[in-house]
Amino acid sequence: MTDTQTDTMAAIDAWLERTADERLADYVEFLRIPSIGTLSEHRDDMRRAADFLVERLNGMGVSAEVSETGGHPMVYGEWLGAPGAPTVVVYGHYDVQPVDPLDLWVRPPFEPRVENGKVYARGAADDKGQVHLHLSALRAWLETHGRLPINLKLVIEGEEESGSEHFDPWLEANAGRLGGDLVVVSDTGFYEGNKAAITIGLRGLVYAQIDVYGSEVDLHSGSYGGNVQNPANALAHIIAALKDNYGNITVPGFYDEVRPLTELDRAELARMPFDIAEFQSEHGLRDLVGEADFNPLERRGARPTLDINGIWGGFQGEGSKTIIPAHAHAKVSCRLVADMDPTRTFERLREHVLAVAPAGVKVECNLLNTGMWSLVPIDHPATVAAAACLEEVFGEPPYYLREGGSIPAAASFARVLGLPVVLLGFTNPDDRAHAPNEVMYLANYEGGARTIARYWQRLAETKF
Ligand code: BES
Ligand code: MN
Ligand code: MN
Repeated sequence: MTDTQTDTMAAIDAWLERTADERLADYVEFLRIPSIGTLSEHRDDMRRAADFLVERLNGMGVSAEVSETGGHPMVYGEWLGAPGAPTVVVYGHYDVQPVDPLDLWVRPPFEPRVENGKVYARGAADDKGQVHLHLSALRAWLETHGRLPINLKLVIEGEEESGSEHFDPWLEANAGRLGGDLVVVSDTGFYEGNKAAITIGLRGLVYAQIDVYGSEVDLHSGSYGGNVQNPANALAHIIAALKDNYGNITVPGFYDEVRPLTELDRAELARMPFDIAEFQSEHGLRDLVGEADFNPLERRGARPTLDINGIWGGFQGEGSKTIIPAHAHAKVSCRLVADMDPTRTFERLREHVLAVAPAGVKVECNLLNTGMWSLVPIDHPATVAAAACLEEVFGEPPYYLREGGSIPAAASFARVLGLPVVLLGFTNPDDRAHAPNEVMYLANYEGGARTIARYWQRLAETKF
């Protein structure tokens, strides 16, 4: 860095330090809005969260609007005052997961608790904390220098946690104003031990529901048992036919397009410290199970899965009730890796479910949603620049992660806009995302804001 650049960053760091309390209060205010995207009773809260962001952006001189999608709105903002400099599109989401089971929260999920340098609340990490740290980095630049070193476009989604149903159409409709050089997705986090990281892989998703229908109403299991097919038994039979005892998925053709790990991929993954015993004890797991030919990091990052997410039907009450239930159901999801096709995977699943269905019941298998996987190059100049900024702020070069989770929007940006994507997020790995007592470490939040502020500076000087 030149002397002026060092001064620039010093001024920004000083501003961030000086305003830490005020910014934390604003972050807490954002977290108080119960923006649960999947529950219709929170529709107004979703709008309040979107309005909050627009107000903050406009307040710092970034032109922003709530943009309709047919579902929860998108927040779009832009600052284009650096002609000739690169244009970066930033992505995050303001919707959060539901909060049940509520009784396991130490404090109510939308009454943020700040304790020992941590913020506890639903969305503190995933993803409102990361959206808010971008606001901090932006304000730091604009208030200290009245400008950004790059052009910025912000795309903050409201349907990430519910499958991004309206995202692709919105992106396609707005492609004209979304041109740029790079997309930065801030919805991932650090590695075990809270080590700085850049994510290079995300899995895709196929989510389906299996419904098994027998008689019109429940039947007496004495009078009818032995003659009629039981939908719950039939469903169990179908589910049992989806995987073998060794964790391999038995849907024909399921693995056909899976890109094999190269020797280099495996060597890279093998260099990552991973303590199986600690991983187990942290989550109270008795054993790890999975494909025998792969280790846990390979299974998480580079192999597909098939999991039953919910299963119901028949009698669930106290005591016994002797019936043959009229119907039974299951939610099933698959995580996909390169080079699997979500539609094709669903078709294979559906065909297999119908093929193994026993006689005497009607079986349906319907698609709920899909998301595409992402795999980004580790050596893209924008990734190299991000790594340098992380090292400057956190003192160590980052790890490169293949995450097991999914962010369908990342692949959509690449597909619709043809832009390179950098997955740069800052959450601590023990953030309890989607679970009770979700938490964000303020050190990660503040380090994230400082990293982003540096990143804009460095990208201004990067050729790509
Ligand atoms: N932020 C997560 C994605 C993620 C998970 C990144 C784990 C890194 C590690 C995101 O909000 C999420 O939860 N995505 C859903 C996507 C689904 C609803 C389409 C997921 O992975 O289940
Ligand atoms: Mn998220
Ligand atoms: Mn999430």
